[in-house]
Amino acid sequence: IHNVIFDSSLEASKLVAQEIANLIQLKQELNETCVLGLATGSSPIKVYEELVRLHKEEDLSFYNVVTFNLDEYYPMDKSNIQSYHYFMHEHLFNHIDIVPENINIPDGTVSNEELHQYCIDYEMKIKAYGGLDFQLLGIGRTGHIGFNEPGSHLNSGTRSITLDHITRVDAASAFLGIDNVPRKAITMGIGTIKNAKRIVLLAWGNNKAGILQKSIEGEITGNIPATYLQEHNNTTFVLDSEAAQELT
Ligand code: F6R
Repeated sequence: IHNVIFDSSLEASKLVAQEIANLIQLKQELNETCVLGLATGSSPIKVYEELVRLHKEEDLSFYNVVTFNLDEYYPMDKSNIQSYHYFMHEHLFNHIDIVPENINIPDGTVSNEELHQYCIDYEMKIKAYGGLDFQLLGIGRTGHIGFNEPGSHLNSGTRSITLDHITRVDAASAFLGIDNVPRKAITMGIGTIKNAKRIVLLAWGNNKAGILQKSIEGEITGNIPATYLQEHNNTTFVLDSEAAQELT
């Protein structure tokens, strides 16, 4: 892992957005599709803001972009304002020229009976595009990436998982109480993420400092899934100074 530490998350987010824009435009020159893996949550919001600005003010087009989101709560309606489906449209997709058919977000409305096959199909669809060119990540206080909670296997694929208690506590305020936070989610696996050609993990603020120290400097363990990124050869952790404060 390679770390870069910025004074401000805004400055950092703009640079990450620029890297994504450069990749999209390089792929346009090559007449290729650009396959992006995307995250929700607070960490990537300013990256999406900057991508929207680049589209509106600097002619960045997303016509060749296909996206796969990491995860979605289960069960979850698309119209629910807590859904990751809603989040992505609100922060990015409604404001850019992406082809709607090119947007892939795990579907929190599939039935229990269909769920297993649905996850296999999501994984196969990513593979059919040749894998992810770029994966954007955040990190949870459990060390989760996507919703790969402690105990996740190195080679895991897209699947349904049970959310960790700490993850549900952290989501409680958005859901107006922990009882309203779903117990399950659909997530890309560690294996799915690790197959990405390039990975950028974003983390801001001192409440992430402890888990980042363990993720970057600790031994590789399924108890802290983000440690698996230590074995990926093209991963950058982009941090602000508060998030980096426990690194040695
Ligand atoms: C979201 C996701 C999660 C978040 C993580 C951090 O799609 O996969 O792993 O990235 O929970 O969330 P924030 O950025 O809200 O601190």
